[in-house]
Amino acid sequence: MQVLMTVNGKPMSAEIEPRMLLVDFIRETLGLMGTKIGCDTGQCGTCTIQVNGRSVKSCLLLAVQADHSDVKTIEGVAQNGQLHMLQEAFWEKHGLQCGFCTPGMIMSLLDLLEHNPNPSEDEIRSWLWGSLCRCTGYQSVVRAVQYAVEKMQQASVAEFATAQAQTRST
Ligand code: FES
Ligand code: FES
Repeated sequence: MQVLMTVNGKPMSAEIEPRMLLVDFIRETLGLMGTKIGCDTGQCGTCTIQVNGRSVKSCLLLAVQADHSDVKTIEGVAQNGQLHMLQEAFWEKHGLQCGFCTPGMIMSLLDLLEHNPNPSEDEIRSWLWGSLCRCTGYQSVVRAVQYAVEKMQQASVAEFATAQAQTRST
């Protein structure tokens, strides 16, 4: 079957088997290896990407189900060589060790922060239920998310102040 979708802002089309999983399409057909395969049965979350702005486990979807969708993978998160604040926070707060779970966690947590920009610790922990990590014990991941929230709030206050100053000067 022919599929057509936007992946990380670029239109893509390909002829694929109808039974092909979305995760295999992303990794094998598109060569985007940042999305990992852990369990292949919807339990570990390492294959998490975003489809139309919501996080999904890409081993649970067929590629044809994402036809005409807007798909985002970990490769599409940094912009112009600049890491997203959440990625920087993982770096700063040691939110990873081996890093295998990290792309899926980032894609999932971006969905959380997009829809709940100021989550409580309980909300962060409950969101992380969908992502298994065998290394960190989650403590440093939670700290990284809290750090990212703080940085994002500071950035939006600074952005607001700059916009106000520009309005006053015009
Ligand atoms: S590989 Fe998809 S949830 Fe584990
Ligand atoms: S950092 Fe190793 S599995 Fe999470």
